[in-house]
Amino acid sequence: MKPIRKAVFPVAGLGTRFLPATKAMPKEMLPIVDKPLIQYAVEEALAAGITELIFVTGRNKRAIEDHFDRSPELEAELQAKGKQALLDTIRTILPDHVHCIYTRQAQPLGLGHAVLCAAPIVGNEPFAVLLADDLLDADTAVTRQLVDAAHQHDGSVLAIQSIDPQDSRKYGIVAGSAVDARNTRVEHIVEKPAPQDAPSNLAVVGRYVLEPEIFDFLRQTQAGVGQEIQLTDAISAMLKHRRVLAHRYEGERYDCGSKEGFFKATIALGKKYHGLDAG
Ligand code: UTP
Repeated sequence: MKPIRKAVFPVAGLGTRFLPATKAMPKEMLPIVDKPLIQYAVEEALAAGITELIFVTGRNKRAIEDHFDRSPELEAELQAKGKQALLDTIRTILPDHVHCIYTRQAQPLGLGHAVLCAAPIVGNEPFAVLLADDLLDADTAVTRQLVDAAHQHDGSVLAIQSIDPQDSRKYGIVAGSAVDARNTRVEHIVEKPAPQDAPSNLAVVGRYVLEPEIFDFLRQTQAGVGQEIQLTDAISAMLKHRRVLAHRYEGERYDCGSKEGFFKATIALGKKYHGLDAG
């Protein structure tokens, strides 16, 4: 498999569960303590050796572009006030060798459609997809774990975790045959099944390494669950032709697309990385 240099960040969802906070900004700009969700995801990608960041944005893209751009006035102000630590914090958000590319999803037609919008930029090489509203706190970046598994097994890789079977309607659910302790060759994948229809309790979370062939299948994918073009449906079609693995990652996941997960992440990361005490 070719090196994995590019990551796609779909950030064009409506984020309705966080209204009114997301009325004028993407939910991926909501901060956990002092860093927006999207920056956690970008740092994870950088730790996996990614050098091209592709953001698929929607109507409120300005905030994300500005966040990853230089801010000369703010930098000058911090410099003048001698606030060196803060200056370093904003200057080192991205290393110089990393590039950002922005493309637009004109309408939020679904995650699969958002990923397809990145096809002309990704080209013919494997790439990572990170959904920033899943915050993954891990000793080894979860995207790094997937990239290593993709190289080892020469195929696409989906991050999975076990879930309470009652929660199957929130996820894509996979089933297949175990390859080793952490990897399963995917034989079935289905989006948001009812608990009685779920083929297992192994749920896909918001991290993927995909071969570029996925774009051929996405182009043929019709709207599915929720009238959205689902990435899961394209993966399901690809299974018959390409190797797809599900990788049970090591790390802690916070579903920051939900208020409860967002709140838990704030408490856990506030304690762990900032020494904060919620009292
Ligand atoms: P969600 O399923 O969480 O949807 O998207 P959402 O619209 O953002 O949030 P709610 O449910 O209304 O609160 C999962 C990921 O896919 C992106 C989102 O930005 C998020 O990162 N997405 C989803 C797109 O980029 N485009 C879409 O059309 C749909």
